[in-house]
Amino acid sequence: MEEIGRNIIRLESVDSTNNYTANRARANDLRHGSVILAVDQTGGRGQMGTAWTSEAGKNLTFSVFLEGVNVSVERQFILTKIVSLSLVNLLKQYGLKARIKWPNDIYVNDQKIAGVLIENFLQGSYIHRSIVGVGLNVNQDDFGVLQATSLKLERGVFFPLDDVLFSYVARFNEELKRMHSDEIHAAYLNDLYWLEEKRTFRDASGEFEGTIKGVEPNGQLIIEQNGEMKSYTLKEVQFMH
Ligand code: BTN
Repeated sequence: MEEIGRNIIRLESVDSTNNYTANRARANDLRHGSVILAVDQTGGRGQMGTAWTSEAGKNLTFSVFLEGVNVSVERQFILTKIVSLSLVNLLKQYGLKARIKWPNDIYVNDQKIAGVLIENFLQGSYIHRSIVGVGLNVNQDDFGVLQATSLKLERGVFFPLDDVLFSYVARFNEELKRMHSDEIHAAYLNDLYWLEEKRTFRDASGEFEGTIKGVEPNGQLIIEQNGEMKSYTLKEVQFMH
């Protein structure tokens, strides 16, 4: 896939950069790799129908438009790996040790610093277009009751949003280059939160103790429970403590 970030579209206020991107993509009015950035989102969306709130002008809220992705539905998790690793590597560049809470929440010191919402458009059983929405907490100081943090809270200094955005684009392009290598799976596991730790989860049968063992190629999370391996989709399992 070609590099991203040659075209950056800046919006003052929009409901959701993912919605805006989808509308322009539908009208065939957007180039591959465009990055659509908003100072303020009035209806930011998170995973599983949640809302994404972010103080206007303080953080990065943007979407990346990918055209001609050409990845089969079974391998779609590769995009999740690319996006998660690019965020972890970006944070590493700023001196932070981040972890990926499966599938693609980014945590620093047990607090969420970034979230990702990927929306795919299929052609047959292939992903043809993707919208990768990223919310990265940069300069926000207060998250109320949310278990969240920002670059500024972690490092104690202000970060110019454009510097962080350009660094992110560079990290993303690095991951794109190795998207077809095996390295990327190992790198994803290496940064996975709670990997090989005995923890409490919840599934349809209630709370249980288990250990994350890995991730299936299709993205399902593998948890060992009493010597048995079980794979879960996002809706089927919750991380407790
Ligand atoms: C999550 O953690 O639940 C995912 C959050 C994704 C938020 C970003 S902000 C930019 C883009 N536009 C949206 O409406 N959502 C994503």
